[in-house]
Amino acid sequence: MTRRMEGEHAAAEPPPVLHGPAADIADSSRRDWWKTGVVYQIYPRSFADSNGDGLGDLAGIIDHLDHLGGRPDSLGIDAVWLSPIYPSPDFDFGYDVADYVGIDPRFGTLADFERLVEGAHARGIRVILDLVLNHTSHRHPWFEASRTDPAGPYRDWYLWRDPAPGSTKGRRRRPNNWRSWFGGPGWTWDEARGQFYFHTFLAEQPDLNYRHPAVRAAVLDVVRTWLDRGVDGFRLDVFNAFYKDAALRPNPRRRGADPWARQRHLHDRNQPELAGFLAELRAIVDEQPGRMTVGELFDGSAADAVAFVAPGHLIFDWAAIFLPWDAAAFRQATAAREAIFGEHRWPANALSNHDQPRHASRFDVPGSGVGGPGDARAKVAAAALLTVRGTPFLYYGEEIGQRNIAVPRERAFDPFVRLAEPGREPFNRDECRGPIAWTGEGPAHGFSTGAPWLPLGADARQRNVAAQSADPSSVLSWYRRLIAVRRATPALHLGGQAAHDPGDADVFAYVRDAGAAGRAFVALNFADRGAPITPPAAGPGRSWRVALTTDERPVGESLGDRITLAPLEALIAVEG
Ligand code: NOJ
Repeated sequence: MTRRMEGEHAAAEPPPVLHGPAADIADSSRRDWWKTGVVYQIYPRSFADSNGDGLGDLAGIIDHLDHLGGRPDSLGIDAVWLSPIYPSPDFDFGYDVADYVGIDPRFGTLADFERLVEGAHARGIRVILDLVLNHTSHRHPWFEASRTDPAGPYRDWYLWRDPAPGSTKGRRRRPNNWRSWFGGPGWTWDEARGQFYFHTFLAEQPDLNYRHPAVRAAVLDVVRTWLDRGVDGFRLDVFNAFYKDAALRPNPRRRGADPWARQRHLHDRNQPELAGFLAELRAIVDEQPGRMTVGELFDGSAADAVAFVAPGHLIFDWAAIFLPWDAAAFRQATAAREAIFGEHRWPANALSNHDQPRHASRFDVPGSGVGGPGDARAKVAAAALLTVRGTPFLYYGEEIGQRNIAVPRERAFDPFVRLAEPGREPFNRDECRGPIAWTGEGPAHGFSTGAPWLPLGADARQRNVAAQSADPSSVLSWYRRLIAVRRATPALHLGGQAAHDPGDADVFAYVRDAGAAGRAFVALNFADRGAPITPPAAGPGRSWRVALTTDERPVGESLGDRITLAPLEALIAVEG
């Protein structure tokens, strides 16, 4: 299997001299790519279908690697994060894993995965896998063994409990009041075993028992296996739920709109023992240079996140994923993040992912089509994501301004919609998981030759990769330029973040400062009107020069003491 070159040669001999993108990988591993790079999330079943079954697959991703990196006209990202590709019965679309070290045959084979890693590395793109370690599928052999053989070696691998005292044969009382995030009680009775088991998510996703040493050893083996197969890092699904209170104390009640919200989740996550396990996991990841992890904090805030941040180990700050179209909201979220993280901890930021409405839809202007004000907002939002301090995570399709698709609730695949309890209006996650359109030709726009598992966007004839590649004013062309400028400007990928008050409340402005490596000034006009602003003072004998703008402003032009931003202009200037 593919192994990373620097890892193999570290002990015995100096690494070979590398040229081209693979050399970039070796080099930037040393330069903290996890910090300076741009990560691109692929939801594999909606990216590209190579065999016409309507579901995206690994070969489809390989076919489209040039879109992502390795060529002058590629997007220029540094890493892909693949949502789960393991065998799964799909009760939660891959987040219910039946084999942690296999590839779901619908996505391909291990040989395909190896080709994908090689193809990505050859283009200077790293590969991050989604590790779903809080729970397995109920079809995982560990769970099958645990429920059917209560005296066997897997007996304590899950959270099994007898009914609470006071139960009768006809009415079994659950061990405590913990709930499932998707809806309903968190405990399900298993006839075969004659006990309840706990699941933070679906009954088809039983939670592992992290207090059992064999469970910890088994999941750490999974981590080692994928590292040996050449992956560069992991996204850790709901990592803060791994440990639960040892005594399974009930959560205290509070007021709230629905049963989940009516509890303070003190005992079903965020337990102190987590820190020790994460340290073990990180030590394994850190054994090979250039590897990283990013934790998905479940139902938590940036303040909860920082405790787990370490060099090479990021935690998502979700603030941006919930922001409205409002400069003040962006400003405040950034200031809050900076205050919480401080200058020594590195944030990880995203505007969209597979669980939330796409930001191009959140920020859209009703009636605005391709190239309209909704797309202008998408460009401003992209500029914010790619120039504030932190590692940006893009969600496939956002580079063409992809919107949510319409999926009637009665046809939703997403279990969240089916199970929601009164008081909750869950987002139908199918809507943000639609296939990307590669071409203008229907019916499946280059995504598939068959019937796509979810519909493409109604605007796919105009909004697709081919059309936007050919249009210098498209959202895609903007992302390409933005990522190139970010890469070329140390202040943007490394610098500290300082707020700047430009004198107009609708403009979100800041300075990124990398000391001797330079400074950059970013001004983002959220208003659909011109905005007169005052740039910050440049250093003695220096001025701010335009590096990139959505407007007609010439690149290299010096900014005066007072400038007027165009409506919805995103402007990046460097000191020179
Ligand atoms: C978080 C994932 O992002 C989400 O898609 C999934 O449903 C839950 N974890 C359960 O694994």
